[in-house]
Amino acid sequence: MRELCFLPEIQRFDSFGEFVRAHRAGDRDIILTDNSSLQNFRAEVPPGAAVVCIEKYGEGKVTDTGFEALRHDASKMWFDRVIAIGGGVCIDMAKMLCAAGEIRLDEIPDTDHFPFSHNKELIAIPTTCGSGSEAAESAVICRSGNGSKIWFTDHALRADYAVMIPSLLYSLPEAEFAGGCIDALIYAVESFSNMLQSTKSSRMLAEKALEIILLVFEHLCAEGMNARIKYIYFMQLASLYAGAAASIAPPSASHALGNQLMEKIDIPHAEACLSFLDAVLKKYLRDITGERVTEDQAAVWGDLMVIMAKGMDIEGADDEEIIESLNDLLNCIYRRSRSGERGLTKKECIRLGTDCWEQQQKLLSCSFSPFSKKELTAIYQSAWGCS
Ligand SMILES: [Fe+2]
Repeated sequence: MRELCFLPEIQRFDSFGEFVRAHRAGDRDIILTDNSSLQNFRAEVPPGAAVVCIEKYGEGKVTDTGFEALRHDASKMWFDRVIAIGGGVCIDMAKMLCAAGEIRLDEIPDTDHFPFSHNKELIAIPTTCGSGSEAAESAVICRSGNGSKIWFTDHALRADYAVMIPSLLYSLPEAEFAGGCIDALIYAVESFSNMLQSTKSSRMLAEKALEIILLVFEHLCAEGMNARIKYIYFMQLASLYAGAAASIAPPSASHALGNQLMEKIDIPHAEACLSFLDAVLKKYLRDITGERVTEDQAAVWGDLMVIMAKGMDIEGADDEEIIESLNDLLNCIYRRSRSGERGLTKKECIRLGTDCWEQQQKLLSCSFSPFSKKELTAIYQSAWGCS
């Protein structure tokens, strides 16, 4: 069992130009990015580097067919390094470009053993804080055939360098910043409470991520979201810690429920997962109070509650109050684009609960305590069902 992985090397630069000089970026490189990130460093693109924007290969997610189109275009270029500058989708695409070789993604079964090999150098420069992909040995790919998401986890799917350049995030819109930070927080909570794979070291990283995120959220609630620029570096660090923790112990139920919901309605990833976090934590609390947990689970839960209470400065509060306070804090940070919409029928909630149970077992198996099909359906009903 792996305790902790120290790759990639993590670096920080004040500007993109400083990064270019330090890494001698140029004609050996493909810069894989997105149109909005490109605006922030276009003037400093090194001579000879090929710039490829991911929008050409699909919007908002990495699909196997989108990746095949990218690989086809890249095969006509000479490069031995990929510099990914963007969000999780961009970095995941770059990971595949560096590790998939000739293997077709639509032919890879969803198992734990993947035929990847890390055959090109990868530098990941995140322009969002949240996915933690720059620090994780994983990539999420959507199957075009049935729309399902596959969470590939393999040592080959790593960056060689994760580079933080906070100035590249200064123009990140509030909603994207908030969504990214919420995603990182959910990664940290779910990684910490993953009873299957988490280790003392991964919990240490998740704890640090939670400590930073909750502290910054408290500040942002008091100061307003316009103050976010001064916290970007801290959130980048927290997101990186959460990503590294999730690399050892992946997220679980909120992501499983959220992923399944995203197949039904068009909603940002963080918002989909966030809409279930409160119900998921309350389900765990019911299992704790109903004494349906082991001593180990009770100890992990106790630690998580202490960390969250400390982070929100409500030490001594009971578990229910801690979960309520977390929900209030997150509602202060993230304005839900689909708030108030609870239009799913009972039948649709039952379908979602069944599909989630059947298709998301890989994530559900990482949950703090097991979910039944009925519990999943009840959570869809409570979060999205019409009364
Ligand atoms: Fe996520």
